[in-house]
Amino acid sequence: MSDLKSKIDLNKLPQHVAVIMDGNGRWAKQKGKLRVFGHRNGVKAVRETTEAAAELGVKYLTLYAFSTENWSRPQTEVNALMSLLIKTVRKELSTLTKNNIRLQAIGDLTKLPKDTYNALMEGIEKTKHHTRMTLVLALNYSAKWEILEASKKLAQAAKENNLQPEDINEATFSNALSTAGMPDPELLIRTSGEQRISNFLLWQIAYAELRFFPIFWPDFRKEHLYEAIVDFQNRERRFGKTSEQLT
Ligand code: FPP
Repeated sequence: MSDLKSKIDLNKLPQHVAVIMDGNGRWAKQKGKLRVFGHRNGVKAVRETTEAAAELGVKYLTLYAFSTENWSRPQTEVNALMSLLIKTVRKELSTLTKNNIRLQAIGDLTKLPKDTYNALMEGIEKTKHHTRMTLVLALNYSAKWEILEASKKLAQAAKENNLQPEDINEATFSNALSTAGMPDPELLIRTSGEQRISNFLLWQIAYAELRFFPIFWPDFRKEHLYEAIVDFQNRERRFGKTSEQLT
């Protein structure tokens, strides 16, 4: 596994990698532990993945940390996840700073508990000038929510006569999404063996390469990211064209 990194062509890196971190609960259950134990160990995988992506030169890493649907989990688990977020953002702030990594978040953040929201905003504010990589946490996020919000924004602009319906195109629509200004993810990774998108970045992944790993998120390591990128670089991305048109 160790020479996988050397197989990566650094000139053809995906600019943006998105990850659906799945399987924390099952990982813990397998070990006879509470689900929260899985989330705590999931943080280790978050750290590894962030470090590996930044070292390689990936510009954006987006992690699906909490979906709009996750509120329906047992209250104790939701609370534990929210405090884990506060703890992690605070604890990792110095590492983010040392490594010149900018923190951002997408999702309906105002619905987060106040202390989680505040910790997140503090992390975002303190890292806003960092340039090496942007780590985006998707929190209380769902792609359908985001698309509806963008639609409302555009409709409002049209109502106020600041936008004509014929001016709505891919660029204006992308700019109304919470990922405005970010390149679309070229590679989407999901762990735990499930092969679903689960309401994640539906607009942005139109042409992303998908890579599923049969392991649970707490077991995800740098080598898995390298493997996904090597695989990504060996795929032919045609964007609707024929192979011959690409050469
Ligand atoms: C999926 O596993 C994981 C989550 C919904 C939460 C992810 C959170 C972390 C890794 C910790 C905090 C993250 C950051 C970025 C600080 P699951 O609970 O759906 O597992 P299951 O499918 O086996 O039940």
